[in-house]
Amino acid sequence: MYRTNTCGELTIKDAGKDITLCGWIQKSRDLGGMTFVDLRDRYGITQLVFNMETDGALCETARKLGREFVIQAKGTVRERSNKNLKIPTGEIEIEVNELNILNRSEIPPFTIEEETDGGEELRMKYRYLDLRRNSVKNNIILRHRVSQEVRKYMDSIGFIEVETPVLIKSTPEGARDFVVPSRMQPGTFYALPQSPQTLKQLLMVSGFDRYFQIVKCFRDEDLRADRQPEFTQIDCEMSFVERDDILDTFEGLAKYLFRQIKGIEFSEPFLKLPFNESMENYGTDKPDLRFGMKFTDLTAVTLGHDFAPFDTSEYIGGICAEGCSEYTRKQVDELTEFVKRPQVGAKGLFYIRYGKDGLLKSSFDKFFSQEDLDKLAVEINAKQGDLILILAGNKKKTLTALSELRLEMGNRLGLRTKDKFVPLWVVDFPLFEWDEETKRFYAMHHPFTSPKPEDVHLMEKDPGKVRANAYDLVINGIEIGGGSVRIHDTTLQKLMFKVLGFTDEEANEQFGFLLNAFRYGAPPHGGIAFGFDRWVAMFGGQDSIRDFIAFPKNNSGRDVMLDTPSQISDKQLDELQLKINPK
Ligand code: AMO
Repeated sequence: MYRTNTCGELTIKDAGKDITLCGWIQKSRDLGGMTFVDLRDRYGITQLVFNMETDGALCETARKLGREFVIQAKGTVRERSNKNLKIPTGEIEIEVNELNILNRSEIPPFTIEEETDGGEELRMKYRYLDLRRNSVKNNIILRHRVSQEVRKYMDSIGFIEVETPVLIKSTPEGARDFVVPSRMQPGTFYALPQSPQTLKQLLMVSGFDRYFQIVKCFRDEDLRADRQPEFTQIDCEMSFVERDDILDTFEGLAKYLFRQIKGIEFSEPFLKLPFNESMENYGTDKPDLRFGMKFTDLTAVTLGHDFAPFDTSEYIGGICAEGCSEYTRKQVDELTEFVKRPQVGAKGLFYIRYGKDGLLKSSFDKFFSQEDLDKLAVEINAKQGDLILILAGNKKKTLTALSELRLEMGNRLGLRTKDKFVPLWVVDFPLFEWDEETKRFYAMHHPFTSPKPEDVHLMEKDPGKVRANAYDLVINGIEIGGGSVRIHDTTLQKLMFKVLGFTDEEANEQFGFLLNAFRYGAPPHGGIAFGFDRWVAMFGGQDSIRDFIAFPKNNSGRDVMLDTPSQISDKQLDELQLKINPK
């Protein structure tokens, strides 16, 4: 037997026991007569002690142990004189009487400690070493726990986990596909699934009724903190349901996970916020509702004062930052710089200070009297001591910029705390999105998303106005999941393709397998997919999903550890009948 115990479990209750531990050397301290070694494994750290007086030869061997050597130590548990109450094993140490070096280690490229000296790129290259660090290891363990809980809950309500293939045909999720060339049919390609969307719909046709899968998805798109080219979804689909049946079911899952993982109870139903309201009030379809600071449309009360920046604007909107009236010039300048950043996109920032003395002072005083400013303050519900921040311009762009400003103020005021969670459903998304460049409508979600029945009559007349039976689960400003009720009626599906500008041939070429299947009795169905990595990262209190994935890609989509993407041999290219044509 290699070990009788782990490095995380021995306590004062075990004093006097003879035990054997295995693990990695975290660090050693040589104090002349005594050598102390911190031995680490997945479960924790236990202190080993070697005594020169009791066994000089053993102590000499211990002195030569290097960081990350793998050893086996046999000895007796005893109470420590110098206790460390911060760790569970901190009251004991092992007086070692036998030491076996199981493997040596080169000096690691960075220190395997919480405060490591290794930069991000280096730690990615040696990810297997980074995974030895507590924080990263715990993220992976958290991920495991969440996946177990998901499976437990889904099974308990009758969902069946079905695996779907990875070598498939393109799926319509709007990103670029990763493709895999076929050797057996040269010149043809598989696509890796952007999601198992069409396959889960086929499973509904098969009668599986309640499907889920924790599944890898692949999207060739620009990467961000919450996006990886390969990521994991909790993918779900149900038959014989309407929108609210689906939302209730998955609200159940969300509440269960919060309870099991975070110990948080949500007794109230999640808010259902229509997309249009979300855009008007927060300028985004994923509002962070940990704090208020709703937008007020000030267009009507600001126009007509001969103040050109307002008079030439389509939309003027403001937020009220409570208690910020005494922001310094420097702070206001910083905010102005912030809104002018290209990612935010405003031309400038206007403000009104509502002084504690009741006086209103604005950056456009010449054009607005105290009375005018007072009207504005009433409109936006400001109190003495508040700072009103205003942006003006094209409506869509200004709403987006105001949303960024709101989040920035939320950060500055400490309103976006990691231990508070506010989930909501954003519902009634538009079915179509107009693209200026190609001058045509695209499906905002995917082409199988059902319109709201009451809007079907608008599909040809005014597609931009049609609302979809689609929804997102948003928590703290992060899109955790999204889904929809699907179209199961062939006539409606045909109409949908028509509005999207697909000919019958094009629709058949791309989705023939699904349309065929629908000719054999497709039940009414709908579903959702959750970004599993995002959910785990949120439970872990972090924005970046990378550290919750064992072997992630960097921001350029590279795996620096495997050093890939990489070239393949001429022989492989030859077999695939492919030729590289560098540009
Ligand atoms: P959607 O495209 O909204 O829907 O994806 C569902 C959820 O997956 C997560 N997600 C990502 N996470 C990490 N990296 C990425 N690149 C990435 N892209 C998406 C998000 C998102 O909410 N088939 C539909 C679902 C359905 O209609 O049932 C779909 O894939 O959290």
